Amino acid sequence: MIKEIIERSSIRSYTDKKISDSDIKTILEAGRLAPSWMNVQPWHFISVSDEQTKDLLCKLSFGQNQVRTASHVILCLADTTAWDDNKFRKILQAKGSTEEQINAIIQNPTLYPKLKGDERVLLRTAEQCTYAMAYMGLQAQNLGISSCVIGALGNEFTESNQDLYLEIRKKLNIPEKVYLMAMLTLGYNAKPELQMKKLRKPFDEVVSYETYGQKFN
Ligand SMILES: Cc1cc2nc3c(=O)[nH]c(=O)nc-3n(C[C@H](O)[C@H](O)[C@H](O)COP(=O)(O)O)c2cc1C
Repeated sequence: MIKEIIERSSIRSYTDKKISDSDIKTILEAGRLAPSWMNVQPWHFISVSDEQTKDLLCKLSFGQNQVRTASHVILCLADTTAWDDNKFRKILQAKGSTEEQINAIIQNPTLYPKLKGDERVLLRTAEQCTYAMAYMGLQAQNLGISSCVIGALGNEFTESNQDLYLEIRKKLNIPEKVYLMAMLTLGYNAKPELQMKKLRKPFDEVVSYETYGQKFN
């Protein structure tokens, strides 16, 4: 198995060492190269290292200290405007789809979630963003950098901490219809001697062979 998958765990305690710009760029590149539905790429990443902004983000995440002490925090923004007719068309055109194919896609509710309404668009946007987050976490691990996904924060999903959330949106110039879905804290592990045990459901509980519930030998 890829060693980064085995070695990665959520690390919440970091040293003071700062991550180099080049490593941060490599991690962001990994997010950019993640797969997405029809290649729609409905994401935007903000790399934050400013101490004041990190303090605000720590508060937004109900005081989770790893947000404040991380060298960098990557904000993963869910960009629901990526599905807008003109933008979506451009993506499909770049893939080499014909006008006829594009018109068929944007009239098909299975292929074009906009036809099912805003909530479905948000759901599918968030779905794509998780791939980018996972790629960035594994790329960080490959560079010897630890990470932790932060989903417990004030945003459209939790509907909590709204005043602060709006203040942060304004401070960071986040456009309308673009939502802070989650954050990825990045830093060097302050306690590498503590081996985190992987707590997971047993293989047979989450995997079936051919039909649900049949054991995979
Ligand atoms: C979508 C998502 C949101 C998460 N939110 C938080 C969070 O707000 N705070 C935190 O400390 N860990 C958070 N985590 C980390 C999980 O708790 C962690 O991945 C899980 O317990 C498994 O542990 P491991 O990552 O060390 O293998 C989140 C993980 C995911 C995927």
